[in-house]
Amino acid sequence: MSGKQRLVSGMRPTGRLHLGHLVGALENWVPLQDKYDAYYFVADWHALTSEYAATEKLVEHAYDNVADWIGAGLDPERCTFFVQSLVPEHAELYLLLQMVTPIPWLERVPTYKEQIAQLNERDLSSIGFLGYPLLQTADVAIYDAAVVPVGEDQVPHLELSREVVRRFNNFYGDVLVEPQPLLTPTPRLPGLDNRKMSKSYGNTIDLSDPVDVVEKKVRQMYTDPKRVRADIPGTVEGNPVFIYHDAFNPNREEVEDLKTRYRAGKVGDVEVKRKLAAAINARLEPIRERRAAALAKPGYLREVLVEGSRRARVVAAETMERVRAAVRLRY
Ligand code: TRP
Repeated sequence: MSGKQRLVSGMRPTGRLHLGHLVGALENWVPLQDKYDAYYFVADWHALTSEYAATEKLVEHAYDNVADWIGAGLDPERCTFFVQSLVPEHAELYLLLQMVTPIPWLERVPTYKEQIAQLNERDLSSIGFLGYPLLQTADVAIYDAAVVPVGEDQVPHLELSREVVRRFNNFYGDVLVEPQPLLTPTPRLPGLDNRKMSKSYGNTIDLSDPVDVVEKKVRQMYTDPKRVRADIPGTVEGNPVFIYHDAFNPNREEVEDLKTRYRAGKVGDVEVKRKLAAAINARLEPIRERRAAALAKPGYLREVLVEGSRRARVVAAETMERVRAAVRLRY
């Protein structure tokens, strides 16, 4: 085989992907596909842990997300794309991990109580939701993954994964690999309204938004509220319009010029936003093209996911053979 270390990461298909996913995950995943033996997957079971009551759009989102992965530059010829539920061995390892995992370890994971408080209109008192980080542990352990590229928020999940793997290995011998997080740089992008960026707030620019939608969304972006006229000096720091310029406008000179004039009250919001929309649209253009090409080939995405899941399943089945033997479940 390749001799490269194995890498696994996944995304829940809960909606369309936006600029936060692009800079926070996908643009980090792209170079890793060549450096590692990389497996990227649709975490559809993880989506169910909170979206169990509304599953009708799940598969549609999965395909749409994978089109965006390809749009962002991931290449299913250079890495493996798969679907979690098409590799049911994840569930078998998850079940065995449950035997050795104390419930308080899961209750202590910070995202657990946070999410329950945040999504308070939903009943998240299920075993499935409590077990979220343990299923994630199975996702990576089943591929002997050495590294898992994730954002800061996922570090406690990886910590739990390492603890569970150690405990499992204590009982059954050195059978699973302890995964390490690969902390990806995630520039903090606020939402268009300066709240936390979230699909549920409707304050995102999506990778699938056409040019005119991007222009309209940028025109409506939150900016310095004290600046009711163009000749009033404005604040650049913490201003979402300039945070986005810093993240998406490669023309540094233009950005510095806009900041200087903004602070001096010598530029209108219209110009600042027009240039921002142009920069974002330029960044999205190649993504749109690759995305459209992938969606234009009938059956292509399905084929990519089915073939990738078949490949992933070969590896997962080997691990499960080893795990069953270690647990002495051999008949
Ligand atoms: N919990 C991850 C997230 O919300 C998604 C995920 C599920 C994942 N399983 C994984 C990420 C395994 C990395 C590895 O972003």
